Amino acid sequence: MAMEYSAKVMEHFAHPHNVGSIEDANGIGEVGNAKCGDIMRMYLKISDDEIIEDVKFQTFGCASAIATSSIATDLIKGQPLSEALKLTNQAVVEALDGLPAVKIHCSVLAEEAIKAAINDYYKRKGVHCVVDESCGCAHEHDVAEEEE
Ligand code: FES
Repeated sequence: MAMEYSAKVMEHFAHPHNVGSIEDANGIGEVGNAKCGDIMRMYLKISDDEIIEDVKFQTFGCASAIATSSIATDLIKGQPLSEALKLTNQAVVEALDGLPAVKIHCSVLAEEAIKAAINDYYKRKGVHCVVDESCGCAHEHDVAEEEE
């Protein structure tokens, strides 16, 4: 039986946005999907005031993974890091008007890759990981102290 994809998924799969790499990225995250072995790499160019100025991705994976990467990059481009960290795979799936149930796991890659890239940005700055355990990194998950 053919799988039912929404028009949005098909559109983002056929013409994904923000594909490629960023040479002077200051946050790069790569994650793999344990279920299928697919890989996603996310590049972020983050400004001094922590706005995501540019984002690009490379996904070696299925149509759902490519479509979710594409829409996730659209959703975080121009956003402050604090907002990008709130992006969940449910929000990505909703923005795509849904995914077939067996493909939901593919949408997790985008959320994890964004968190990994943000974590890399903080690591380069010498700050502890500010992402919760879901980022999958091996660092301490101390949330950076907020300056009053
Ligand atoms: Fe691997 Fe979709 S089947 S990410």
